[in-house]
Amino acid sequence: MASNTSRSAHLAKIITDNTAEIEAYRQEQGLPPLGLGPDEPLDVKYPPKVERCRRAVIDASMELGDLATGPVELRLIPGWASMTTFGVSQFICDFDIARRVPLTGDISYDDLSKFVNVAASVLHQVLRAGMPYHMFYEPRPGHVAHTATTKVMARDPLISDWSALCTDLMLPAGAGLSKALREEPTASDPAKSGFMVAKGDGEPGMYMYFEKHPEKARHFARAMEAVRKDEAYATRHFIDSWPNDLQRGKVVDLGGSAGTVAFALADKFPELEIVVQDLPAAVEGAQVREGKNVSFMPHDFFSEQPVKDADVYMFRWILLDWPDFHAQRMLRALIPALKPGAKVIIFDQIMPPASTSPLSVERYQLHIDFALLALFNSKLRDVDEWKEVITQSDQRFKVTDVRYPENSRLSLIEIVWQP
Ligand SMILES: C[S@@+](CC[C@H](N)C(=O)[O-])C[C@H]1O[C@@H](n2cnc3c(N)ncnc32)[C@H](O)[C@@H]1O
Repeated sequence: MASNTSRSAHLAKIITDNTAEIEAYRQEQGLPPLGLGPDEPLDVKYPPKVERCRRAVIDASMELGDLATGPVELRLIPGWASMTTFGVSQFICDFDIARRVPLTGDISYDDLSKFVNVAASVLHQVLRAGMPYHMFYEPRPGHVAHTATTKVMARDPLISDWSALCTDLMLPAGAGLSKALREEPTASDPAKSGFMVAKGDGEPGMYMYFEKHPEKARHFARAMEAVRKDEAYATRHFIDSWPNDLQRGKVVDLGGSAGTVAFALADKFPELEIVVQDLPAAVEGAQVREGKNVSFMPHDFFSEQPVKDADVYMFRWILLDWPDFHAQRMLRALIPALKPGAKVIIFDQIMPPASTSPLSVERYQLHIDFALLALFNSKLRDVDEWKEVITQSDQRFKVTDVRYPENSRLSLIEIVWQP
């Protein structure tokens, strides 16, 4: 008991001290105090020292909130909260509510109802449920107005792609997990993941399911764009950690989607010739850009690699989606094309050792790990698991470097082919 008391006092002090630093900085910069009201600036970026204070407040208040909530409410409340926040966000996106509500002032439920064709009383009921989660507010009875968070939804269409992704993929996958594990307790076949059990129709995995449902594939690609906007996934981390000795020659970008990363790489290193490979539906939408040394080729990365003797074969943010057996098939499919000394660059997520990260980061990593299981029967590998999966695919693959770019969620694993 005594230690609980001191833990909560310790957390409260972290919150007080760090919040004071943040507010002092905001005042210095002429910014209003922290808030989520309609007139808040949306894109405040803090210098590293203040950003560390912000993270400390987030982590300590999460933990203190949990301690004060206690075990029974902790188990009961999240179920309600996830259903409500998910359902309300989906409704806001599907009915385009964020863009129907004026950015300044307010609108009556009656007028809004005419735009969206949902009864005013029901509109009121749904939107009110989101208000304790900072989605809209009622400045006067019968009227609704934006908060800062719904303004973000109005401004950024990628948010609705992310919401569609949750509806179409994440939720069915999570709900299908138990059934999937009853059918396949080792969770090693991507064709039998929670998602595939809930939604699939005999396809070998989620990406093949997308081939049959191009609309969902487009949502997925756009939602990935939304994730890429998160600083921790920014393309620049990859470009900045690209090995110095690989600035010219041929690069094959496997699973390179519409080429966002390849174009950024070509911009920085114009002497690279880059071939982007992906499934037909993904490369069909890709646009070749004049003057850029980037071309597109449909190719299934489980089939033998058709581009021989390239200098680099890269997998950015690919192998995490696949269980070990399949990741190894992918690496082995390169072998007939590899010249001695060819490099394989993996840029992907590495699970840090347990309980070494702040609570918010740990939760985030484990959200991803869980989503990988539910969608693909895959997992976030720690660094030893990565090395093992690579060298067990073939002993001639030698891991020569592992780099962790600062502030990046993805890390670089460099492999050399040494026959
Ligand atoms: C998470 S996205 C990563 C995209 C890109 N590399 C990046 O860093 O943003 C995974 C990509 O793998 C592609 N993919 C999935 N299965 C594939 C297969 N069998 N052959 C080739 N590409 C595939 C998907 O179409 C998708 O573009």
